[in-house]
Amino acid sequence: MDKFLLLIELFSVISFSQCARILGVFQMPTISHQSVFQSLWKELSLRGHTVTVITPNPLKDPSLINLTEIDINYTYEIMERHGFQFFMSKELPIYTKIPRIFSLNYELSEEILKNGEFIKLYNNSNEKFDLIIAQTYVCPIMYSLSAKMKAPIIGVSSMGGWTGSHFAMGNPSPPSLYSEMFLPYNGEMSFYERFCSTLYYLWTRYFLTFEAIPKSDKIARKYLGNDIPYLGEVEKNLSVLFLTTNPILYTPRPTVPTIISLQQLHIKPKKALPSDLQNILDDAKEGVIYFSLGSNVKSINMPERIRNVLIEAFNELPYTILWKWESDDLPDKPKNVIIKKWLPQQDVLGKLIVIISYL
Ligand SMILES: *[C@@H]1O[C@H](CO)[C@@H](O)[C@H](O)[C@H]1NC(C)=O
Ligand SMILES: *[C@@H]1O[C@H](CO)[C@@H](O)[C@H](O)[C@H]1NC(C)=O
Ligand SMILES: *[C@@H]1O[C@H](CO)[C@@H](O)[C@H](O)[C@H]1NC(C)=O
Ligand SMILES: *[C@@H]1O[C@H](CO)[C@@H](O)[C@H](O)[C@H]1NC(C)=O
Repeated sequence: MDKFLLLIELFSVISFSQCARILGVFQMPTISHQSVFQSLWKELSLRGHTVTVITPNPLKDPSLINLTEIDINYTYEIMERHGFQFFMSKELPIYTKIPRIFSLNYELSEEILKNGEFIKLYNNSNEKFDLIIAQTYVCPIMYSLSAKMKAPIIGVSSMGGWTGSHFAMGNPSPPSLYSEMFLPYNGEMSFYERFCSTLYYLWTRYFLTFEAIPKSDKIARKYLGNDIPYLGEVEKNLSVLFLTTNPILYTPRPTVPTIISLQQLHIKPKKALPSDLQNILDDAKEGVIYFSLGSNVKSINMPERIRNVLIEAFNELPYTILWKWESDDLPDKPKNVIIKKWLPQQDVLGKLIVIISYL
């Protein structure tokens, strides 16, 4: 929280002397990523900065007069087509996942670089930005805008930093000590886990150096022209990288001073629950269990075998279960299970006895 206040203070010092023109590029079409960035671009615009963002989840709030949003919500279709939630499944080996995440990101980045409204921005030599804020995920293509538009760049991740980002920021990242966000390890690792983490690290460095970064560089050049430095160098030029991990959930690790954890940027002021939901919670005398796999991984896509195990287990409980289930009916739904396609998660959380989700 201190770091976050520091950030706000930093921006208010800047705005004291002069309001900045800021370009935000947030390319991942998933609401759980975007809701983190929404707070950032909204707050910056409210503080008088002139903010232009490209995002698949625009706020569309007419009261934000200093904010221009370029809507790329059509990229949700790309995410579906690549089958993100399926290729990230636990059973698949990591060396198949990373190349597929990159393929997805090549296409998402190209879709932005081809966007008419966006071309007008970077192709207009009168359009000067004081700062670019870009989503840090795995693929650095969009960082090339900082080289093209000659503006300093800050990276913001809606989660932790991955191997490539730590490397680019010059942050020591010994794989025998710290696991990686795409690996299923957390806390102190066993010898076997350290060994796998090290292999993964070596493979990632190889894949990035010889395949992913050269390919990303080619894509950036195809749209922005050849007068930009190599993308691998641009990636090392991030002024600051903001992460949003919380040490309660992740192993704390040392970072260079230019990597700063913002932690709970996504937390919004509390709102009253819709009355139907409030009634459900009031009626649940024994307490409520909340079950959600998030926005990317849909409960409706879980194998029938697992669904049946859950249904059987829930059926035996005296509690009310709120299940984020993305369809109108759940076969064999027990009476104590209530399904909703979407829930105001943050406002419900305070009223639960157990939360079932995954990290
Ligand atoms: C818009 O920016 C101006 C300064 O550029 C600031 O004074 C004003 O409060 C901002 N208004 C809103 C609604 O963001
Ligand atoms: C994209 O935005 C349009 C207009 O607001 C809306 O009709 C459409 O449902 C949205 N599509 C997705 C995939 O969010
Ligand atoms: C970009 O700008 C150049 C020169 O200003 C112009 O020739 C070119 O057609 C523009 N490209 C696009 C895609 O707008
Ligand atoms: C790094 O950033 C500085 C300042 O914004 C800029 O002058 C320099 O050209 C950039 N270098 C690369 C490789 O992007």
